Order: sequence, then C-alpha cells, then structure tokens
Amino acid sequence: MERTFLMVKPDGVQRQLIGEIVSRFEKKGFRLVGAKLMQISTELAEKHYAEHKERPFFGDLVEFITSGPVFAMVWEGENVIATARQMMGKTNPAEAAPGTIRGDYGMIVSKNIIHGSDSEESAKREISLFFREDELLSYSRPL
Ligand code: CMP
Repeated sequence: MERTFLMVKPDGVQRQLIGEIVSRFEKKGFRLVGAKLMQISTELAEKHYAEHKERPFFGDLVEFITSGPVFAMVWEGENVIATARQMMGKTNPAEAAPGTIRGDYGMIVSKNIIHGSDSEESAKREISLFFREDELLSYSRPL
C-alpha cells in the first residue's frame, strides 16, 4: 500500500491546525500509520530540504522549519501521494484553490502550513529521514 510523508509546519502547529488537518485525511479514508510532534534539528532540516540547497530562500526555509514544533506523519492508502498533494493545494497559498488546506488556511508561500512528499521516491526518502521502521504501524481499517 502506498505511503506518504506529511508534516504540519510550525505555522500550522502554532495556529492549532493539527486536528483540522488530521481530520481531513482521516475523513478522506487514509490511514495514519505514524505520527510525532517534534522539533527539527538544523541538520535534519538541511537533509529534508537538500533539493532546495541552491535556492535563494534555502536559509529562510531551514530557519523557519526549525523555528518551532512540527507534526510529522506517515499516511497510507490508495494513491495517497498525489491525492494528499491535491488536498494540500498549490505550494503558494495565494494560488491554492478554496477547499484545499493551503487555500483555506494559508497566505504566503514561506508559511504554507503543510509539507507533503511529491513522488514515491521522495516519500520513501522523507519517511526514512523522520521515522524508524518500528515507529510505523500496520493495521486494517474498514473502508
Ligand atoms: P514545501 O512543500 O515544504 O517545500 C519547499 C518549500 O519551500 C515550500 O513548501 C515553500 O514553503 C518554500 N518556498 C517555496 N518558494 C519559496 C519562496 N520564494 N520563498 C520562501 N519559501 C519558499
């Protein structure tokens, strides 16, 4: 079964949106198989965002994601990587459609509430950066 890595960023945690965000993915039918509230180290942030290393905003990105607790999650389900991206909306909340998480709660690209893996490869990489195998649970849930 496909898995993805989703993370409520420091702005989402601070604005008390964890429950709202978890609820959307639960109601959709996806299964939460791992979760933790955590403070990201600079080292982990730099690894997580390695593909953006050359971008002018890289320093701000690392500073922001390490500025407060995040809520890291692994979700499982049919086509969960692409569907979660749709539910999150476009990266820039100003362009994200109403009804999406960023469209409903975000305003600016640097504080866009949530991160989600963009491919199978990045999902695998990000899940293994944030979770040990024994922190992920397998269980069945009636659909
Ligand atoms: P995320 O999905 O976490 O992946 C990379 C992040 O970079 C993205 O969400 C945005 O929050 C952030 N980002 C993208 N463009 C900019 C920008 N121009 N300035 C600051 N942050 C940005």
